[in-house]
Amino acid sequence: METKNQVIETLNNHVTVRNFSSEAISDEILNNILEAARRSPTGSNLQAYSIIVVKNAETKKKLAVLSGNQKHVEECPVFLAFCADISRIEIASKINNRKLAKGLELTVVSTVDTAIVGMSANTAAESYGLGVVMIGGIRNDPKAVSELLNLTKGAYVVYGMCIGYPKSGILPAQKPRMARELIIHNEVYDSSKAEELVKEYDLELAKHYDKMGINQADKAWSEPISKKLETVRRANLKNDLEDLGFVLD
Ligand SMILES: Cc1cc2nc3c(=O)[nH]c(=O)nc-3n(C[C@H](O)[C@H](O)[C@H](O)COP(=O)(O)O)c2cc1C
Repeated sequence: METKNQVIETLNNHVTVRNFSSEAISDEILNNILEAARRSPTGSNLQAYSIIVVKNAETKKKLAVLSGNQKHVEECPVFLAFCADISRIEIASKINNRKLAKGLELTVVSTVDTAIVGMSANTAAESYGLGVVMIGGIRNDPKAVSELLNLTKGAYVVYGMCIGYPKSGILPAQKPRMARELIIHNEVYDSSKAEELVKEYDLELAKHYDKMGINQADKAWSEPISKKLETVRRANLKNDLEDLGFVLD
């Protein structure tokens, strides 16, 4: 029996696309993507997320700058801002004359919900031959993004997503993944070969970048990752999310 199917094929073919043609995405396709995504599982049926659909050129331009000058944010025909959103839970509490006890768990639940709905949108978009890049850079300045998108209190943009048809129909080569043994564990966690396999991945990724003509360190994964994470990133995040209505402790 054939055990592969179109969903498996779409997931296996995933590659991030950062160059988009100017071809518009039809309303029907965009609607199908969003409706399919909205069917995603959601913790306790909280549906603690909102999605802002941005097509306006000026807004995308501003979002591109706020995301660290990422040109694809400006160039994609559709940008989706995936927001964790606990405002409707506040409403539920108000309707029922109860106090909402916010805590870190609610922040995590709403952020996880937001990640899940976005991944569904990603797969749905790719199933139409669209290219996608998620944008974590949008967390550089959560308050400015919130203001630009007129977010309600109790919402923050967890990440963005550029969607569009790949420029000239060209997809980049797929990035190799780490060894399966590093990621998938049978019954219990096994870290016995972790360092050795990370070193192997460094070399494999270096070969990949080499093939693509991208100049990279020999330790192509561990070197840039460790450098990037040597200092705390987005140190403003805690205060900003608290100002936007989330609890982080
Ligand atoms: C939550 C999240 C945030 C990301 N943020 C960015 C981003 O801001 N800019 C970008 O160019 N790529 C971004 N990416 C794409 C990753 O760099 C990419 O998925 C990773 O390098 C693996 O490559 P692949 O998706 O082609 O396999 C993001 C991916 C995820 C899941």
